[in-house]
Amino acid sequence: MVKVLFVCLGNICRSPLAEGVFRHRALSVGLTEGPTGHVLADSAGTGSWHVGSPPDERSVRVARKYGIDITGQRARQVSVEDFEIFDYVLAMDRDNLRTLRELAPAQHHDKLSLLLDYAANPRFREVPDPYLFRDEAGFERVFSVIAEGVEGLLAHIRRHHLSG
Ligand code: 4NP
Repeated sequence: MVKVLFVCLGNICRSPLAEGVFRHRALSVGLTEGPTGHVLADSAGTGSWHVGSPPDERSVRVARKYGIDITGQRARQVSVEDFEIFDYVLAMDRDNLRTLRELAPAQHHDKLSLLLDYAANPRFREVPDPYLFRDEAGFERVFSVIAEGVEGLLAHIRRHHLSG
């Protein structure tokens, strides 16, 4: 079992999409997802403003367009226990990676990286904060960048943890 936590600022726009895309893509490459599956996905925010909220409706819409339902998710804040529980803690951008480095005990720093470090041909290093471009096209771009990162991440997990 490989446990993956996706982290953004609010846990309402980017990381809920990453969680949903990861779960969806894992199933389509034959990996079971959940507490007793091959992989387990979750997401959280470094900020606390939106704790308990469902995902942003623009994230819900773009996910639905690609056949992914993220409406059951609720925002939560990253906690110190997350660094014990998860094998990969993946930040959407450098600001959030910096915050994770401040929060995580030193022995868990090797679990921290940017999601897009796993993208095969990254056009960007960071998943842009959608609060900076509020339109549908912006969320479409966020979705496609996240999907590239997730694809590479799943290939990495299969190669390093689940082969043979
Ligand atoms: P997210 O987007 O980090 O992708 O969930 C944001 C959501 C809320 C805020 C910023 C970014 N905010 O400042 O409230």
